[in-house]
Amino acid sequence: MNIDLSNRQILITGASSGIGLDIAVQASYAGACTTLVARREDKLQDAIQRMKGEGHTYYVCDLSKPEETTALLEKLKEKPVKFDGMVYAAGQTCIKSIKLMNHDELSHLMNLNCFSFYELSRLFFSRKNCNPNSSIVAISSVAHKALAQGISAYAMSKAAMETAVKALAKELKHGIRANAILPGMITTDLISGIESDVIHEAFSKFKFGKVGDVTPLALYLLSDLSSFMTGSSLIVDGGLTI
Ligand SMILES: NC(=O)c1ccc[n+]([C@@H]2O[C@H](COP(=O)([O-])OP(=O)(O)OC[C@H]3O[C@@H](n4cnc5c(N)ncnc54)[C@H](OP(=O)(O)O)[C@@H]3O)[C@@H](O)[C@H]2O)c1
Repeated sequence: MNIDLSNRQILITGASSGIGLDIAVQASYAGACTTLVARREDKLQDAIQRMKGEGHTYYVCDLSKPEETTALLEKLKEKPVKFDGMVYAAGQTCIKSIKLMNHDELSHLMNLNCFSFYELSRLFFSRKNCNPNSSIVAISSVAHKALAQGISAYAMSKAAMETAVKALAKELKHGIRANAILPGMITTDLISGIESDVIHEAFSKFKFGKVGDVTPLALYLLSDLSSFMTGSSLIVDGGLTI
């Protein structure tokens, strides 16, 4: 069974690398026309080069800055297209004890991993900006289900995102759906960028997945094949949380 996203307009944040990039490229091969968001313009341009089809666009935005997210939302509302879906894959991790965490770092993480997801979801509450039967896909994490020392802020941001998905699923109308994907350890820049030896030693006990383990779930949730699913959380973690 093929997943068909022909003529769907899909917004994808975090599309410059890792999970978001793979979803964006594969969505284009499934027929979608994508709007990409991240901070690194050169990587977004590279992503567009890898995509199939015409009409893909991008916006440079730092989603940890509320004023930039607000400006992005306004630009997206002015776009002469109606969206059919969003994948919010932008995010960063943070390995730090509460003793070392300051409020600015906490705000940065919550803005990026959670609040900007909520803000961009507003597009799907306006019939002017989205089509009926649109689909919101949030890339959360199993971090809040398999807790470890030093991940309180990250786990909190991802738990909040997952809860927002369920609450929004109740509020959405016109067949518009919202679901979350909770990956375990996936080999990406996010994992290789962690500088803690203690964490890498802890990670070594777990099986790592690849971005291609997450992408099919995202494409499925974007498509009509999942039209009976909303408010769900799909765990893809190689058994980490069993
Ligand atoms: N890898 C894992 O093991 C794993 C597990 C569970 C959940 N996740 C989640 O999956 C999502 C994708 O992560 P990944 O593993 O694919 O890591 P990644 O390769 O580092 O990708 C992160 C993406 O987020 C974007 N981003 C980071 N900070 C941003 C900011 N301030 N404003 C806008 N965009 C920003 C990055 O683009 P720019 O740098 O160009 O801005 C990049 O496109 C994250 O939400 C992460 O929490 C990952």
